[in-house]
Amino acid sequence: MRAFLIIAHKFRGEINLNDLPGSGRIDVIARCVNSSIFLSHDIRRDVLFFAYFPKINMRLKIDASKVKYLNPDERTTAALIRNAVILANPEKEIRSSPGFYVKYATLEDVLGELESLGTVYYLREDGDDIREVELASNASFILSDSVNMSDEEEKMVMRVAKSIISVGPKSLLSSHTISIVHNEMDRRGL
Ligand SMILES: C[S@@+](CC[C@H](N)C(=O)[O-])C[C@H]1O[C@@H](n2cnc3c(N)ncnc32)[C@H](O)[C@@H]1O
Repeated sequence: MRAFLIIAHKFRGEINLNDLPGSGRIDVIARCVNSSIFLSHDIRRDVLFFAYFPKINMRLKIDASKVKYLNPDERTTAALIRNAVILANPEKEIRSSPGFYVKYATLEDVLGELESLGTVYYLREDGDDIREVELASNASFILSDSVNMSDEEEKMVMRVAKSIISVGPKSLLSSHTISIVHNEMDRRGL
């Protein structure tokens, strides 16, 4: 099982399907869903994708083993995220469409969820080289979006993370970072 959590700092809860970048950079999150879940003509069924939206205290979970109606294009993904956000209920977690689960939560709650799934790694440009690091087969990876984590967020993340890992010397897009992590895990047969 592999899990990815992206902290989506800019998203405020509104999605205009004709302007995904203007919708709190939900295009970035859609691309991360794409790189977490899709293979060519197939889906990675062993993946859980999480997005945490700190501006609205909401977490989205996508269980790739259960998704339906998800296509690799950003617009379809954003439409399913939009549906989840609209249906979110302050009382309980909602399944907004097959494989899509949404609830109100704190970052600490979400980090606790990740911790319960396996070993947690924090992806950051200045971390230990992923090629030198032993990775667990049940692994959760946390990354940020175009905004760096605040000191407070980073402190919380470091409470659950085993280590900080870098995928290479350049600062990459979040979605590209996810692809490299998958590739490294695939090559190791994890
Ligand atoms: C667009 S980058 C962050 C941008 C950058 N911090 C800045 O100054 O604007 C988004 C995220 O991808 C991950 N990331 C990017 N490059 C990485 C690398 N070489 N190794 C590990 N993680 C990386 C990190 O989690 C980072 O927060």
